[in-house]
Parts: sequence; C-alpha cells; structure tokens
Amino acid sequence: MRIGVLTSGGDCPGLNAVIRAVVRTSSELGWEVYGFHDGYEGLLEPVSFTVLDRRRTSGIMQLGGTILGTTNRGRFVAKIGHGDKAQIPQEILQQAKDTVTALGINALVCIGGDGSLTTAQQLYEFGVPSVGVPKTIDNDISATAMSFGFDSACTCVAESLDKLHTTARSHRRVMVVETMGRYAGWIALHGGIAGGADIILIPEIPFRYEYVVQAVQKRMMAGYRSTMVVVAEGAKAEDGDYVTTKDAKRIGEKRLGGIASQVAEEIGKRVPWETRECVLAHLQRGGDPTSLDRILGTRFGVAAVDLIRQGKFGHMVSYMNDQIGSVSIPEAVGQLKRVSPDGQFIQSSKMMGISFGDTPVVYEPAS
Ligand code: F6P
Repeated sequence: MRIGVLTSGGDCPGLNAVIRAVVRTSSELGWEVYGFHDGYEGLLEPVSFTVLDRRRTSGIMQLGGTILGTTNRGRFVAKIGHGDKAQIPQEILQQAKDTVTALGINALVCIGGDGSLTTAQQLYEFGVPSVGVPKTIDNDISATAMSFGFDSACTCVAESLDKLHTTARSHRRVMVVETMGRYAGWIALHGGIAGGADIILIPEIPFRYEYVVQAVQKRMMAGYRSTMVVVAEGAKAEDGDYVTTKDAKRIGEKRLGGIASQVAEEIGKRVPWETRECVLAHLQRGGDPTSLDRILGTRFGVAAVDLIRQGKFGHMVSYMNDQIGSVSIPEAVGQLKRVSPDGQFIQSSKMMGISFGDTPVVYEPAS
C-alpha cells in the first residue's frame, strides 16, 4: 500500500503534526507515504514529491507552516470568494489522476480548508480515492467542533493584546486590532476574550459606529486609560460592506482587510482620545502550534490513515464531543460554520459588559 499526502490552502500551525502522524501510522501498517509539494500542484507536471518516512518527519511536530509547502492559488481552486463553488477543469483532474496511477498511489490524504476539501471531493468523484483533514485557523469548517491552527491563532491574538494593553494604557489610547477569520468571527471572539478585549466586532453581528463609540466613551469616562477593540477582517457596519483590498497578483480578485483602519478613523473622529490600529495579519498563521493544535493535528493524522484503511473515501475526519470521527466531505463544506449571534458564548460575553457594537450603551457623559 502506498498513499499520498498534501497540504493545501493557507498554511496553519499543526500541519506538520498531521503529516508526522500520517507517516507514523502508515509506517506501523507497513505503508509507504509520498508527500506532494505545494498542495495539489505537486500532482501536476512537473510532478513534485518527497518520499516520507519516520526519520524524515522526526522533529517536525513543533514547527509552524508545512514541510511540504502549500498554495491557496493555482489550478485547483474549487471555491471562490464568499463560498461560490467552481468546477476544476477535467484536464486538470485527469492529470492529477494520471500521476496518482503512475506512482501506484492507492489513496490521497488531502489536508485543507473548505476550498481544498471541495477539491478533494471533486478528485474523489473523478475516481481518485481521497480522504480529507480539516485545516484552518478560521475554525469555519462545518461538522467539526474545531480545526487545528485555530488555538494557535487565538493564542497569537491574546498575546498581542497583552502587549497592546500596556502601551495603550501608557498613552491613554483606544487600540483597534484587526484579526483574520474571513467571513467568520471565531478568531476575533476567542482571541478577543482571551486577551481582555472591551469591544469585539465580528461578521455575524453587523455593528453601528454610534454604539461602538458609546462603548468607548463609557469605558474611558469610567476612568480606564485604554480601550481595546478587536475587529475581525470580515466585520462590517450595519450600513456598510466588507472592506477589501485588490489583490494585484490575482486579476480582479479581492482580499479581506482594512476594516481596522476604517474603525479607528471613525472612532477617532468622535472621541478625544487618540485611536490607533494594529493589523495582526499573518502573525496569526505563523509560528509554533500550541499543544492543543499538536494533539488535534496528531489525532486527525492517525484518523485519516484509519479512514483509508476502512475504505471510507470521500470522508473527512472531524472532532465532535471529544471524539475523532468522520463525516462525508460534502456535509462539511456545504456551508461555513459561523458564530451564532444568539449563542451562549456571545450572550455570556455580553453579560460581562463586552460590546459587539449592536446595542446602545448607556454612559455618564463628562460634566
Ligand atoms: O483562511 C485563512 C486565512 O488566513 C484567512 O483568515 C485570511 O483571510 C486568508 O487566509 C489570507 O490569505 P493570504 O495568505 O492569501 O493573504
């Protein structure tokens, strides 16, 4: 038995833990593992892969990124923008299938986010036996309570807020911190709570500047020397739209980003305190995985090989109720998992006075 493994889409801490677990589990079964480079691109001419064994994958679990390389561009893009599906051209799928056949590969482990898992599904439907491993810092894949990389990203946000608190307090400033997360607010919510944010703006709860400013005023009037606003890159004002920038390398395509600058400007216009922005960007994706992500990645890697052993192709491993299980890939990629505005976490955050910019805030104006 010989299997292939690849990492696709944006990188994320914990990918190497999955690769290592796939190799170790396969080696216990006496299987060979080929690691394809730069995501699915490694399956196309010039075909590019490394034969992986226990020795080659020793000492990689704690490393961020992916030893195999990855891409969220290229010829296999199966989802565009806000989740619209795209059909991968038949000739591309055929070339990938030819590579798999020529190399005598019996199955592929595809580690990726919802776009890359949609690609895995298309390959599977085209006759390439494939299983999926959900990967994203955004935590927006349905049918899994968590994906590895998320905890590391939230840790980065929390640690950054720890630092920003001290400088903001020294200067009596309002600090607006932009997180990643695409169209889901998980990173902003979890990272923001862990880092002691006062105001959290997420895509699932459109906000009003009027209410955000009231929340800032209330805190500063109460004598605090700083206010921490965390804003997800996909957050938008009630009467606004997503803030994007043009991606010069991808003609016509847009990339989320820039909302922090807009929020800082709007707050700054309305309050006497200096308001500054900080965009955490790829710091959230880089660096070492937390122990939680190492463990989740390891458990996913073992489970992916087990799916192949059971012949459960077209399935993705998932984490639910402290158990690793599996679901069919279409079940997971049908729709994004987003924060529920009425959910327990949002409600409990509101109970301790965190503002999401969606309700008026009563405060004592300065006399
Ligand atoms: O999906 C992961 C993610 O980091 C998003 O949070 C973010 O919008 C996007 O990828 C950034 O991608 P890129 O690396 O292409 O800038």
